[in-house]
Amino acid sequence: MRNLLKVFMYCILLAIPFLTLACTQYDDYPEDLEQLSEDERLVIRFSHVVGEDTPKGMAARKFAELIKERSNGRIEVQVFSNGTLYKDVEELNALLNGNIQMIAPAISKLTDLVPELSVYDLPYAFDSMEEVHEFTESKAGNQLKNLLKQHNLIVLGLWDSGFKQISNDTRPIEHYKDLKGIRMRIMQSDILAEQYRTVDALPRKIDFNTVFQSLQKGDVEGQENTLTNITSKNLYSLQKYLTISDHGYLGYFLLFNYDFWKKLSTEDQELIKETLEEVQEWQWQIAKELNDQKLQEIEDCRCIQIHYLSEEEKKDWEKRFSPVYDYYKQHFGNYYIQNLPKYKDVK
Ligand code: SIN
Repeated sequence: MRNLLKVFMYCILLAIPFLTLACTQYDDYPEDLEQLSEDERLVIRFSHVVGEDTPKGMAARKFAELIKERSNGRIEVQVFSNGTLYKDVEELNALLNGNIQMIAPAISKLTDLVPELSVYDLPYAFDSMEEVHEFTESKAGNQLKNLLKQHNLIVLGLWDSGFKQISNDTRPIEHYKDLKGIRMRIMQSDILAEQYRTVDALPRKIDFNTVFQSLQKGDVEGQENTLTNITSKNLYSLQKYLTISDHGYLGYFLLFNYDFWKKLSTEDQELIKETLEEVQEWQWQIAKELNDQKLQEIEDCRCIQIHYLSEEEKKDWEKRFSPVYDYYKQHFGNYYIQNLPKYKDVK
């Protein structure tokens, strides 16, 4: 009997390390991702074209950190910034082909795929970021986002860059007539091209990562962008004049390849959606703060002549841009324009 008890105790002692290992394997994922099998790990490759110190770059990193922490290292978001993996058009193709799983392109760059989205590009379409957010969450905004599903893309959020400003090397831009004849770099969007044609400027669609060289070589004399993009790429060092015009919105849809998304477990989808919602709130705040901070830095450097459009001047510009709205209506109807917050209640 005593011998039997001894054998039993011996077996228990032998089993303890194996039982401990079995329990911890399923509760805590080890930090070293190499220890996880391919089936256990989830890698999300996220490519974007701006610097890490921009509102998009910062939010991308925050999202990656939070997801890693909350999934105990099981889900890894690999962020490729500054166009190091793919440039403007390439990143969308790579997402469509499933070579990467996530991107956050400027909405303007999706307008070749879904031209109706260029309602976001219309000059003075929004008076505030709050209006952009309201529109994006509205019925019309959701219909627009759903159009991307036909292309195997799902939108899981909106990040702001801010309102665009105009810089150039030729003359101060105070009146819209001052834009006449100036070669302006724009993103890939027909509505943005139309915006500049309307005031007799010469729009040129150029990839973001080559704007600096294009300005330097004199291929274009001016460009429009948010202050965080203008400063992070040091574009203002090549320009004499800056106009604070707030004439257009620049923001990003957070896009996933839809086939990839549908294959994720409900728990993983929930974790990603909740984390993105939290990061979005934070990102909106950071975008605002950084743009204010960059304006202060540009003012302090006294290295570029700044003109601030008055409210009256903005109204004047807005009126002059009305043919751009007609162009949009002719091609895509009035529905999305009518649903912009500033026109919604206008009879
Ligand atoms: C970006 O903010 O992602 C780039 C915008 C641009 O192409 O000007």
